[in-house]
This record gives sequence, structure tokens and C-alpha cells, in this order.
Amino acid sequence: MSKAPPLRLGVNVDHVATLRNARGGNHPDPVRAALAAIEAGADGITAHLREDRRHIRDTDMARLKEAISRPLNFEMAATEEMLRIALATRPHAACLVPERRLEVTTEGGLDVVGQRAALEPFIAALNDAGIRVSLFIAADPAQIEMAAKLRAPVIEIHTGAWCDAVTAGETARAESEWRRIVAGAALARSAGLEVHGGHGLDYATAEKIAGLPQVVELNIGYFMIGEALFVGLAETVRQMRAAMARGREAAGAA
Ligand code: PXP
Repeated sequence: MSKAPPLRLGVNVDHVATLRNARGGNHPDPVRAALAAIEAGADGITAHLREDRRHIRDTDMARLKEAISRPLNFEMAATEEMLRIALATRPHAACLVPERRLEVTTEGGLDVVGQRAALEPFIAALNDAGIRVSLFIAADPAQIEMAAKLRAPVIEIHTGAWCDAVTAGETARAESEWRRIVAGAALARSAGLEVHGGHGLDYATAEKIAGLPQVVELNIGYFMIGEALFVGLAETVRQMRAAMARGREAAGAA
């Protein structure tokens, strides 16, 4: 079996900020959580500065960039405001996500087919600034092929529909969503894209997707921050890394 490349864990600290904002003060601090996650073995930190600032604030992004020694992945909607902040912050990576004000979380992937003309200048501006762009899309062949045409080096496959079906115990739907992810990861890789995954992942789903050798990064937040309430963030990172390592072994990694 050929060797699968290493699999990185990006820890999303948005929901540390959600908890902080419930009281409006400074505690718990997402930057402190980011440092603890890195100390425990996270490869990078992800944060989503939403238009409505419901969790991460502008100052959090700047402080994260300043404080952490690992790559910062700036999740953002393709808007002029976010582009300006991303260019000023200079994160390692930017992940373009769809955003609707009333959604509870990022519900669907970006429609890169329908939004091609609108997205192109944002991808170009981020590429030109040396910020690695990823497009958060469903594992849909048309979306993947368009992502490859748009000069974005990375896609992040939206794993939410699969994870929701697993959680709901809807076996047939889970199986069909999983098959879409497997085929999508293979298609994206063969189109020259780097493949990431994220949304709704827990220990079991992260272990399973780690078995896909095309996937080289997982970005995980909500489950890990919830788990951290019970066992601590460092232990949660260690357990997530262990789950990913088990899955990766199945893919033939060293
Ligand atoms: N990746 C992207 C692009 C996201 O929008 C999110 C949610 O902010 C995540 C990963 C993390 O999802 P979750 O918090 O469900 O683990």
C-alpha cells in the first residue's frame, strides 16, 4: 500500500468565543484556547470572523495572528470587508465560506459554479497576497471541477451532511453522503487540488475520514470545544489526534 501523507488537525476556536460572548467580557479567551490546543498537538488554528461578529471579534483575529506559532486559517465570506481584514491580518490561509445572517452555522458549501464571477477577484487577491486559499464546497463533481478552474489550490469538503446523517442514525443517507465524499476527494486530488475536510466531525467521523489518503487536513471545532468541557482541551486534542492516527493507519501511513 502506498504511504498516505500526514494528516493535519486544525482546531477551530469559534465556540470558545461564543461562550465568552454570552457574558460579553474577555473570558474564556479563544487565544488562550488556541495556545492550549497547539501545546497539546494541534497543527493549526481556524477562526471564522462572521459579518455579524457573533463569536470571533476583529481583535481576536489580530491577537491570534500575533500569538500563535502555527498556521492561522481565516474563515471568511467573500466580501470586501473581510478581504480588507484578511489582507491586513495576513493569515497563513483563508477559507472562503458562504454566510447567511440567519443561519446557525455554515449550512451548505459555497456555490462556486453559480458564484464564479463574484469569487474570482477574491481568490486572485488572496493568491496575490501569498495567502493560501481554500474553497469550502460540497463533494459535488461540478463544484470540484470549477474549484480547480478557479486557481484555488485547496478545497475543504463540507462534511456536515454526512456527519448529520451519522448522528441521526440514518444509515442509507450516511452511506450515500460518505460515497460522495470518497469520490469527491479522489476527483479533487486528481484535478491537482489539496483536499481538506470539515464541519460536524467528531472522534468517529474524523477517524473514518482520516482513512482517505487524499485528505491532508481536518478543521474541527464544535465537537472538540464541547468535549473540552468534560475532559479539558488538551485531552480532547490528544484523543482527536489518536482517532485520526488510527484512521490514517488504515490508509497505509507510517
Ligand atoms: N470548516 C469550515 C469551513 C467551517 O465553516 C466550520 C464551522 O465554522 C468548520 C470547519 C468546523 O465545523 P465544526 O465546528 O462543526 O467542527
